[in-house]
Amino acid sequence: MRKNIVAGNWKMNTTVAEGVELAREVNAAVEKASELKCEVIVGVPFTHLTAVSQVLTAVKLSAENCADHTSGAYTGEVSAPMVASTGAQYVILGHSERREYYHETNAMLKTKVDLALEAGLKVIFCCGESLAQRKDGTYFDVIKAELVESLFHLSAEQMSNIVIAYEPIWAIGTGETATSDQAEEIHAFIRQLIADKYGKQVADDTTILYGGSCKPSNAPELFAKPDIDGGLIGGASLKADSFMGIVTAF
Ligand code: PGA
Repeated sequence: MRKNIVAGNWKMNTTVAEGVELAREVNAAVEKASELKCEVIVGVPFTHLTAVSQVLTAVKLSAENCADHTSGAYTGEVSAPMVASTGAQYVILGHSERREYYHETNAMLKTKVDLALEAGLKVIFCCGESLAQRKDGTYFDVIKAELVESLFHLSAEQMSNIVIAYEPIWAIGTGETATSDQAEEIHAFIRQLIADKYGKQVADDTTILYGGSCKPSNAPELFAKPDIDGGLIGGASLKADSFMGIVTAF
């Protein structure tokens, strides 16, 4: 059966020293908490990976991106094998901020997904629609294309290393959360797409996270939905107590 996950996405925040301190706090709180019903991950900037990796014992580590090449003359880029060599187990790919500001396409993300899996990383793959796409009713098609074009070439076995995060762009960092019913509708749609392609077992085993202004106050209602298996948390992951308020929401 699939596992529940709460993953932090720190984005471009904290110095290395601040990040190590935050990671220490989260790790200590997770170690202390008894019977947590989810795996906990922190997604941190590239610069922090090695140092943060050394303080984590009960929390998994993720990068927020990786390159679409393995090595070579790509000044400033960081490859999947480099990320894996820090001790990270996960990489977040396809975040809407990367799609929008760094022009990442479904085709480019397909390559990144392949390279990440090849390097032994698990992928937290983000999908989600803009406000305009929600309003004009094309959002099901947008989400389907993101999944089909970047993930559906994978084998069923490879899919076991993919976590999907549904993040409606209009809810990210805006304070506006999708209602639990709106989120559940999309999560059920995503699970059905996976079932149609890979069968019911793979669909049932795939963890699907919600992201977008998730906080301790709304996490319990979201996580109670049958197809919402946890969250990808931005703003609220930057303080150990608010992040832990979400981790303990199950
Ligand atoms: P938010 O970000 O929780 O700050 O809305 C979520 C995300 O972008 O992953």
